[in-house]
Amino acid sequence: FNKKELSGTARLSIKNHDGSNKLILDTNGLDIVSVTDRDGETPLPFHLGDSLKYLGRPLEITITPKTTEVVVYYHTRPGALALQWLEPDQTTSKQFPFLFTQSQAILARSWVPCQDTPGNKITYSATIKVAPPLRAVMSATPVQSDVENGVYRFRMDKPIPPYLIALAVGELEYRPLGPRSGVYAEPALIAKAAAEFRDTEKMIHIAEKLWGPYRWDRYDILVLPPSFPFGGMENARLTFVTPTVLAGDRSLVALIAHELSHSWSGNLVTCKVWNDFWLNEGFTTYLENRIMEELYGKDFAMMLSVLGYHDLLEEMEEMGTNSPDTRLKLSLEGRDPDEGLTGVPYEKGRLFLTLLENAFGRQKWDAFLKSYFDKYAFQAITTEDFLNYLNQQLIKGNQELQSLLMINQWVYESGLPENCPIPESREFARVEREVEKWLNGMPAIKINSENWTALHWLHFLRSLPPTLSQEQMKELDDTFHFTQSQNSEILFVWLKLSIHNHYSAADSTLQNFLMTVGRRKFVLPLYKEMIKTEKGKQRAREIYLKARSHYHPVTYLSIDPLLDVSG
Ligand code: BES
Ligand code: ZN
Repeated sequence: FNKKELSGTARLSIKNHDGSNKLILDTNGLDIVSVTDRDGETPLPFHLGDSLKYLGRPLEITITPKTTEVVVYYHTRPGALALQWLEPDQTTSKQFPFLFTQSQAILARSWVPCQDTPGNKITYSATIKVAPPLRAVMSATPVQSDVENGVYRFRMDKPIPPYLIALAVGELEYRPLGPRSGVYAEPALIAKAAAEFRDTEKMIHIAEKLWGPYRWDRYDILVLPPSFPFGGMENARLTFVTPTVLAGDRSLVALIAHELSHSWSGNLVTCKVWNDFWLNEGFTTYLENRIMEELYGKDFAMMLSVLGYHDLLEEMEEMGTNSPDTRLKLSLEGRDPDEGLTGVPYEKGRLFLTLLENAFGRQKWDAFLKSYFDKYAFQAITTEDFLNYLNQQLIKGNQELQSLLMINQWVYESGLPENCPIPESREFARVEREVEKWLNGMPAIKINSENWTALHWLHFLRSLPPTLSQEQMKELDDTFHFTQSQNSEILFVWLKLSIHNHYSAADSTLQNFLMTVGRRKFVLPLYKEMIKTEKGKQRAREIYLKARSHYHPVTYLSIDPLLDVSG
């Protein structure tokens, strides 16, 4: 922790199918000390190639056709892109430092030399040494924990893509949630986390009933400090989540349904290259919604669908509906795969699968999905593999059906095809009526919000016109206390609205939020909203200069260009 450095060895078992004399590994920012044969003594010549944009440097190792194992001695540097090293004051207890990794999409190579592509599935075992009382967890089964000496051993005996290799080190406590699920969190958060995620075991049951057995033995969740750059990350056997999902009322647990669903789409059946990213996220967003429907009913699932659909429309508007990045099959050659991380693979992907569900009926479609996960379990596939299987199993060469469904348009063309199923929610229609009445002069206190959930409130805020008067902002805040909201999604929308409308009563909450939360989906749009005015830009820079060191590289690297800041 003092040096912000991981050092160690990577022992790679290789299958040299075509008798090559050269092994090439991905690295990014690694210092390579030496490379040896399996005996750990015989040196193997190696060379670090030139740095390639986004990709890092190839590590070329001279081997023989008979080489079966190579050992790489290496260490990371403090800026390693996958890693975030937290000072004690960035944790809840403020007592101990914390470390976590985020390997997706191509950052595993910044802490483990490997062939870092989702099409390459590997097994791994690891020994991690930490200073007690810190504890290490990984995306694998713990096979030995020597708490006193701080030695932890792990094994992942199922093939996974490298982007699912993950490690976290900190002051962690564990609580079981069910026979094969549980949660890790800092001691002060463990009770809250266990209460929030109490439906996890039910979710696993629902998923298994629909898509076949959970094939990873255990499903655990790790709650990270608030600087975690994503909502959730489906690291194998151990989902990483932001603490901003702990709303206190389980209203944001769709995120758990999402990460759990990746145990089928993504972790089991994986996109072969990042151009096929929608096979991971579109399927998972669809599966997530099915779990939520089973668990909380159709109305709830529909509300989630509508929120997602509106997000997509908004984002596509921004990207331009003709943008090639609105195609399901992406073209990321020569680009940072992070650029493909928009709502398109998620929401357009989900809509496409919903269209297929509607076309074939649930029964046939569900049977198809189950057989798809069976057929491609532990493999990596392309969009075309999926389309071929769909054709073979359900379309059966029916040309008419093929064009009715507009499959090629959905997958290879931009925008939303005209046969897009548009989600509609009765519950949200109610909300919209209340918004209308308020805009027409009814006092906020009269708004009929009986039985509204967090999702209703989200839709309420998002249905407001972007520009409101100070009086209107104040009336809403006085009546519903949005500035004090404990729900991060609601607070986020409210803060954006507050920035846009110069509602200064929310200023200190905004500053505090940006200083603690590092979830990119929240902080990036907030900074973007701030820099729309000259004064806001100044304020954004002031906050950012203090907050930047609290963010993970994934977050600060996307904000830097916005504010003309560089590391
Ligand atoms: N696997 C993604 C996160 C990701 C994607 C990280 C690409 C890096 C590159 C994860 O499953 C995800 O989608 N997380 C979402 C939450 C979800 C409920 C939409 C997030 O973090 O916002
Ligand atoms: Zn996902």
